[in-house]
Amino acid sequence: MHTAEQLAHMRRNYVRDGLLEGNSPANPMQLFGQWLEHAVQTEKPPSEANAMLLSTADASGQPHARIMLLKGMDERGFVFFSNYQSAKGLQMEDNPLAALTFFWPVLERQVRIEGRVERVSADESDAYYAVRPLGSRLGAWASPQSQPIGGREQLAERLAAVNQRFADNDNPARPPHWGGYRVLPQRIEFWQGRPDRLHDRLDYRLQPDSGDWSMTRLAP
Ligand SMILES: Cc1cc2nc3c(=O)[nH]c(=O)nc-3n(C[C@H](O)[C@H](O)[C@H](O)COP(=O)(O)O)c2cc1C
Repeated sequence: MHTAEQLAHMRRNYVRDGLLEGNSPANPMQLFGQWLEHAVQTEKPPSEANAMLLSTADASGQPHARIMLLKGMDERGFVFFSNYQSAKGLQMEDNPLAALTFFWPVLERQVRIEGRVERVSADESDAYYAVRPLGSRLGAWASPQSQPIGGREQLAERLAAVNQRFADNDNPARPPHWGGYRVLPQRIEFWQGRPDRLHDRLDYRLQPDSGDWSMTRLAP
């Protein structure tokens, strides 16, 4: 257990890089792509460079956050996969606004993304489901994600039933309750740690009329 005093003295001085308006592309998706690529090269296991915090809020306004894996990105936005009937799935049905946060400690970087969420097309979900390992595909059938279960044995029983159902089929169809979501970004903020807590923050916002991105520096 760390004492408050120990915690108070835990801090890093960030010296690795800077983030300047002049070197930053007008389109933040391009900058995100560069940072992700760099993170994949530098954030070695057990760190997962495509791990991100997904924050949602339920109808009462209560926030909920959990780690997810980014599984795709393009000009439209950021894609992840989950159970549509999970707690997060129901929250995003009630309130289709979400935030994604990436933290790349080796690079001393954070990216914060905010926007609307929508389900990806059935074809996109089918395509990703098909490339998952068979165990993960069957697991998606077996696990009623976010529901209380009696014990680990119950999960094993459900998996055994799924195995039996698909015994003659090594290409099971995607469960209807499982698929992808895409966060369509309205705002993307890039944070680069700098010495003396004078960090760089560039805040990109999508302009609703033109579809262009504006960029503003924020105080650290
Ligand atoms: C590194 C890591 C990656 C994860 N990736 C996913 C993912 O891609 N999809 C998913 O549904 N859950 C993923 N999880 C599990 C979620 O954090 C969470 O426990 C689960 O989705 C249930 O969340 P919910 O009850 O809020 O719906 C991951 C967990 C960790 C620690």
